[in-house]
Amino acid sequence: MKTLVVYRSHYGSTRRYAQWLAQALDADAAEERQADARLVQNYECVIFGGGLYAGSIAGAARMAKLYGALQGKRLAMFTVGLSDPSDPENVKKIMQDAARAFTPEMLENICFFHLRGGMDYRNMRPVHKAMMAMLKKMLLKKPESERSTEEKGLLAAYDRPVDFTDRAALAPLIAWCRDEA
Ligand SMILES: Cc1cc2nc3c(=O)[nH]c(=O)nc-3n(C[C@H](O)[C@H](O)[C@H](O)COP(=O)(O)O)c2cc1C
Repeated sequence: MKTLVVYRSHYGSTRRYAQWLAQALDADAAEERQADARLVQNYECVIFGGGLYAGSIAGAARMAKLYGALQGKRLAMFTVGLSDPSDPENVKKIMQDAARAFTPEMLENICFFHLRGGMDYRNMRPVHKAMMAMLKKMLLKKPESERSTEEKGLLAAYDRPVDFTDRAALAPLIAWCRDEA
């Protein structure tokens, strides 16, 4: 099945997953800004990938906008965040974000996968640094015992860069693409 992987990545984690995926599937990869209705019409399967950014999924808005042109294709989206997707609470939160970006019909037709990225506070854009500084201030006000694992992970990532990208984590998505899932 001819497959296109579209990604939007600020710091490289989603790009890395998109490139691994394209290699594994012998698929094409394109940055989100290159993905338009003309490009996607050449593919039977289209996968979008995007990082999680404080309640929004990068690339989700573009996928929703292109949805008309994606009709009849196999569709998937993978998210890349710092939070651990093996915790069902984190996935629940991501899917709440997805429900703001997609209609219920879209949510039914898109298969979602969740992957772990990384964070390097030192190399962040000023706007993201400011967002993270605000978040840190808020989290430090919370008693430690009340912080979720996601919140603890965010705080830990301030002190040293973390990178949880893992090629093997793509296995379920690759299996889905090959129709083995
Ligand atoms: C401003 C900001 C907000 C973020 N918000 C979240 C979040 O809500 N949930 C999460 O799991 N990760 C969050 N992250 C971590 C990113 O999702 C993570 O760094 C991911 O690897 C980014 O992928 P990218 O480099 O491909 O854009 C945030 C990072 C930044 C800089």
